[in-house]
Amino acid sequence: MTEVEQQKHKAAIAAVAELRDGMIVGLGSGSTAAYAITEIGRLVKDEGLSITGIPTSRNSEKLAREVGIPLTDLDQQPHVDITIDGADRFDENRNLIKGGGGALLREKIVAAASDRLLIITDAQKQATPLGGFPVPIEVIQFGAAPIMVKLQRWELNPKLRMRADAPDKPYVTDEGNHIIDLHVDIVDLPHELARRLEALPGVVEHGLFLDMAERVYVGTDDGVTVYPPGA
Ligand code: 5RP
Repeated sequence: MTEVEQQKHKAAIAAVAELRDGMIVGLGSGSTAAYAITEIGRLVKDEGLSITGIPTSRNSEKLAREVGIPLTDLDQQPHVDITIDGADRFDENRNLIKGGGGALLREKIVAAASDRLLIITDAQKQATPLGGFPVPIEVIQFGAAPIMVKLQRWELNPKLRMRADAPDKPYVTDEGNHIIDLHVDIVDLPHELARRLEALPGVVEHGLFLDMAERVYVGTDDGVTVYPPGA
């Protein structure tokens, strides 16, 4: 395992230690969340931990089933105790850019339904001010073109995300929408940007997760650093 993968793994193990019997747990998406899902599966199987998971993407659902985590959905369990998820960037105020893997809409819905959102990352993703990674916006397919025009006028450098396996075709999310990535270096006023994006008709959600994360667990070469300090 590379150093970065070890960092992700350490962060995941630290966050999973917060889980208790009987909890409804949001299962995040991406490579770091996959370490958490695998560890939860191990605890369910080997130590009889009784939890029920709500996956935030089809990929996470598949992995959760493979490792034997009992699953439910928000219709059955609209209240989630803890969600453990990754992030693409985080700042010292625990504001996040998420959605590099395209699951931001379900991730934000599950996070918003959760009492606690625990974020797990490697040390390379810290960015204060927030930036260094495109900010994704999930948009209704019908509205993608005029939204692109508006974002260009705002000089936010939008690019329609294309499929990795078919680069001439737009990426389609689990909810059937497109994603526009804003290639901006720094998000100096994340709350203001979030408000502007939310006001655009056809924008379903954006990847700025502001004031949502209770803790960020950062895997380092020496261990795990938790934000806020002392948490
Ligand atoms: C997916 C996400 C992921 O949590 C984020 O992209 C981090 O992924 P990884 O742990 O693979 O770096 O927001 O929509």
